[in-house]
Amino acid sequence: MTNLLRNFAILMVIMSCSANNNSFDITSPDERIKLSIFQDNKNSLHYLISFNNEIILDASNLGIEFTNIPDFKNNLKIVSIKRNSNDYTWEQPWGENRFINDIHNELAILVKDKLNREVIFRIKAFNDGIGFRYEFNKGFDGKSVIENELTSFNIANAKDDSVWWLEAYKKDRYEYRYNQSSLSEVSVSHTPLTYITSNGTHISLHEAALLDYSSYVIRNGGTNNLELELVPAYDGTKSTHYGNFITPWRTIQISDTAKGLIDSSLILNLNEPNKLENTDWIKTGKYMGIWWGMHIGENTWSTGPNLGASTAEAIRYIDFIAENNIDGLLIEGWNIGWDGNWIENGPIFKFNKPQPFFDMDKVSSHAKKMGVSLIMHNETSGHVPNYELQMDDAYDYLEKHGIHHLKTGYVGFSNGYPFNSIEKARPNESGDLVYEWNHGQRMINHYTKSIIESAKRKIALNVHEPIKPTGLRRTYPNMMTREGVRGQEYNAWSDGNDPQHTTILPFTRMLAGPLDFTPGVFDVWFKGEDDSSRIRTTVAKQLALMVVLYSPLQMAADLPRNYLKRMDVFKFIKDLGTDWEKSITLDGKIGDYIVIAREEKHTGSWFIGGITDENQRSYDLDFSFLPEGNFQATIYSDGDNANWEYNPFPVNISGQSVNSNSKITIDMASGGGFAISLIKE
Ligand code: NOJ
Ligand code: CA
Repeated sequence: MTNLLRNFAILMVIMSCSANNNSFDITSPDERIKLSIFQDNKNSLHYLISFNNEIILDASNLGIEFTNIPDFKNNLKIVSIKRNSNDYTWEQPWGENRFINDIHNELAILVKDKLNREVIFRIKAFNDGIGFRYEFNKGFDGKSVIENELTSFNIANAKDDSVWWLEAYKKDRYEYRYNQSSLSEVSVSHTPLTYITSNGTHISLHEAALLDYSSYVIRNGGTNNLELELVPAYDGTKSTHYGNFITPWRTIQISDTAKGLIDSSLILNLNEPNKLENTDWIKTGKYMGIWWGMHIGENTWSTGPNLGASTAEAIRYIDFIAENNIDGLLIEGWNIGWDGNWIENGPIFKFNKPQPFFDMDKVSSHAKKMGVSLIMHNETSGHVPNYELQMDDAYDYLEKHGIHHLKTGYVGFSNGYPFNSIEKARPNESGDLVYEWNHGQRMINHYTKSIIESAKRKIALNVHEPIKPTGLRRTYPNMMTREGVRGQEYNAWSDGNDPQHTTILPFTRMLAGPLDFTPGVFDVWFKGEDDSSRIRTTVAKQLALMVVLYSPLQMAADLPRNYLKRMDVFKFIKDLGTDWEKSITLDGKIGDYIVIAREEKHTGSWFIGGITDENQRSYDLDFSFLPEGNFQATIYSDGDNANWEYNPFPVNISGQSVNSNSKITIDMASGGGFAISLIKE
């Protein structure tokens, strides 16, 4: 069907609904986005979204099927509607932006079925997109087992070869390269899924406030219809509830431009305000780690001659960190359980017992004396029952040692079972060992428990092998950062990331929230020029990634000896801030390049990062975003003849004074980038 015909057909559906007085619209405050909700002849609900009069989602489904109680999908009656508007600003304890504007219109539609059960279908329309959810409010007092959420996204007008998506149900969760394809080639995808329409509108589908519900993936239902699929539990059920319940917000971020997606606050705005009494103890910062040495094979997590986490090594790192304006140290391999094949050690890890070569009292008191915060690591190897049994002890132990940061890890549990995509062993009601997907309701609740329990002990989290972020950092600001990405570690021991990978992430994974990618490696040929294990970037791009890829805990991942060799370049990392008054995406194209500027909270300094894919390009940087005044700019850019493939090391460092009238042109090498610090004069 041509667009025109289709729009006409949909209009007819809406008009026939309006005749029954059961079609309702809601528009964004700027009136560019419009969602219409209407009913068909079975009296089920549908919605459709347009942007600037372009239909972006055709008539799409709504409703829920249950396994144990009647479905809530047909014979629905709209009983009443309520409208509301909001325009206020709230402050984040930390983040890309200190202040967030929440300006939206709201429509709450009360729907009843033949059994007199009531559901509110609530929609919020912002200038940067739409969120909607179901609230099962009356008649759901008992147990409700969801078989299917029928929500769909009937994509209108996707441009060829312009969908970025990540295949779901794979062994390593979110740790894959993004696919770029046409809509018809999407099979089943995690969210965020980002695409461009033929008119150049940028759209991203995701969810917000994922709590006590299964996360969703997107399954291609054919003919442009993407179906929301809840990740099942081990027994095939989707999500189980006792009493009234609400779904997470289904989100559709919409922008004219690629950069507009990044500057959207939709996901945060759809989460509940902060629930923690006090957030002063939650500190952002840069950190180094007893970490990269293990990934490149110089050290081990297990005891032996190359053990990474010894008392002496921790003290050496703490001293380096204290001298160089870094804030924290990650320590992996400090506890009992790493000997042997740690991936299979899920049941034997101990989280409150250091191994014999690690003196926790000594290390923690030295760190305290030097003003360095420790990020201790709990690898569960995906054995959630073992971790839940010890959770209280683990967090009490950290609290007792004055530690406020914890990195957790959930590498898949194999232990004799086929190492396939089903993971997270746990006993079911009859005591048999069963496995859960990382993103099913059971695991969602585990991760939430970890956030709440750690917050009680003033511990902030950096979660590896996490579920996807959905903005819970607003409600629980101790949920600081997480992996959920094919990060730097893949450059150490796999076929690695290609140069364009990090030019896709800001428009996909990063829309969901902070990512612990662990950039900042200078020795990009750590195994020598001839070895294929390497990082496919220039050194300047490694600096730029520390600005572009947002994380409130930002790692400088390399070994101290490599920083000591390039203290001139390391100066950028020493100066770099981690908590921002404001962030502005200056420009970007998905999979090609991106430039982001961030203003540091309290100091007024700015930091800019720009990266390109495998293509070299020059970028005209216009400083008109700067406030009044002069800034001393230090520019770290790709040196002469630099490129990721043959010559990644040269970095040009130059200084000049700039203000909001300044413009400069910067050349980025193939696989390169630039980083700039701007200190107020
Ligand atoms: C995978 C994590 O991503 C990595 O950061 C960690 O070092 C290893 N697991 C060991 O826990
Ligand atoms: Ca990982």
